[in-house]
Amino acid sequence: MNCLRRLTPLLSRTTTALCPLSSAIASRPVLLTTAKTSTKSLLNRQYRRWTSSSSSSPVLSTRSDDEAVYIDWNAAYANHIGLFDNNITSSYSHVWLRDNCPCEACVHPSSRQKLHSMADIDLNTTPRSIHLDTSTDTLVIEWEQPLRHQQQHEGGHKSHYPLAYLRRYASQQSSQEFRFENLIPRTWARDEYQLEWISHDDYMTTEQGLHRVVEKLYNDGLVFLEGVPADDHQSVTRVAERIGNIQETFYGRDFDVKNVAKSVNIAYTSLYLGFHMDLMYLDCPPGIQLLHCMKNNVTGGASIFLDSYRAVELLKQQYPECYDILRKTPVSFHYINNGHHMYYRRPTIVTDEGYGLGSSWNMHVNYAPQFQGPMDELTPKEMKRFYQAFQRFADFIEDESLRYQITLQPGQLVLFANRRVLHGRTAFDPASGDRHLKGTYLALDSLKDKVRTLGAKYGMNPV
Ligand SMILES: [Fe+2]
Ligand SMILES: [Zn+2]
Repeated sequence: MNCLRRLTPLLSRTTTALCPLSSAIASRPVLLTTAKTSTKSLLNRQYRRWTSSSSSSPVLSTRSDDEAVYIDWNAAYANHIGLFDNNITSSYSHVWLRDNCPCEACVHPSSRQKLHSMADIDLNTTPRSIHLDTSTDTLVIEWEQPLRHQQQHEGGHKSHYPLAYLRRYASQQSSQEFRFENLIPRTWARDEYQLEWISHDDYMTTEQGLHRVVEKLYNDGLVFLEGVPADDHQSVTRVAERIGNIQETFYGRDFDVKNVAKSVNIAYTSLYLGFHMDLMYLDCPPGIQLLHCMKNNVTGGASIFLDSYRAVELLKQQYPECYDILRKTPVSFHYINNGHHMYYRRPTIVTDEGYGLGSSWNMHVNYAPQFQGPMDELTPKEMKRFYQAFQRFADFIEDESLRYQITLQPGQLVLFANRRVLHGRTAFDPASGDRHLKGTYLALDSLKDKVRTLGAKYGMNPV
């Protein structure tokens, strides 16, 4: 049986799963500490180990050679970061370790900014001594070489690495878990989306309420609040600021979606507004949009939402060549009106495939037919193939079984992921009453920030 599993290298490190046999071999007496040894003698120390058979210890054994320090992590050790299925060995290259020393001389204690650059690390950086302090679960390394451009200092530089810190970077998987990038949102169709009204007061006043909104927004890209003061024009920005700073646009800090004559934007008329994402013509389109319903007593005027990731999944399964074309062909988005000329070009589907960055929150769909400009740079043959691919994708987007429809009432508010969840509105009769939604935007970074900080405190349930 082949019990070795190679994972993708992270930085200059590699990770290998240990088979039960190699774990058994590792259970020998404790030994790693060496004091005041030269580089030469360090090379002769290869495969000296500190070992432990205790399931309460994070590390089974460590060793070093002329390039790296190797740690055999204990899968039985419980820690919410980097729960491994098998015991694994992580290699930490000497340059990586020296560069990522967490001491106060290397990372400013209050600003948390690094005080040296990767360019300052001597490529021949070697430990003078390595010591695993089991009383504090810390790996202590004393370095032979100073940083480049630095004078040699007496006694060298001593780095203390908490094992929890090293474990975070033990594998690509564990570092993704640290950033909550391992959560792959489950896509949804109309009948699979589970509506849950979250109380505005809980959200505004408790961390649990905020956490629930952030979690659901991360998982589904679509969340609804109720009990939002309907007559307060500041409500929507206040709700947004609970997550992060408002992303202002040329529409301002917030915007009103009302029926107005001679509208500069189709959103401000009573026509059917097909599925789209906002501001695709900006360099950084907002990641989150909020819409607060202040008035709605018209006939029609329902909000419609659709998980574009589901449409991408269907396209990929049924028309892989079209999926490929939509990933490779940049589409023009523009807004030339009202004294503005905005323009950006981006493919319809952007995925992180091949980069190993983790979750599909590193994937974007760019879809706003209303704001597409003329395509350029395609030959007539390519043009036709692109139009066909786009039409197949659009057919999934128009599939009613994917469309979630809801008529917002005054006091209700929706938050949705603008780079994932498409939105639109059914037509309404402007003579039948008033319809007024107030909206604002947030950057996706603000949501990710909250996912990581609240996730570290309360966990992040991927469902
Ligand atoms: Fe919109
Ligand atoms: Zn340091």
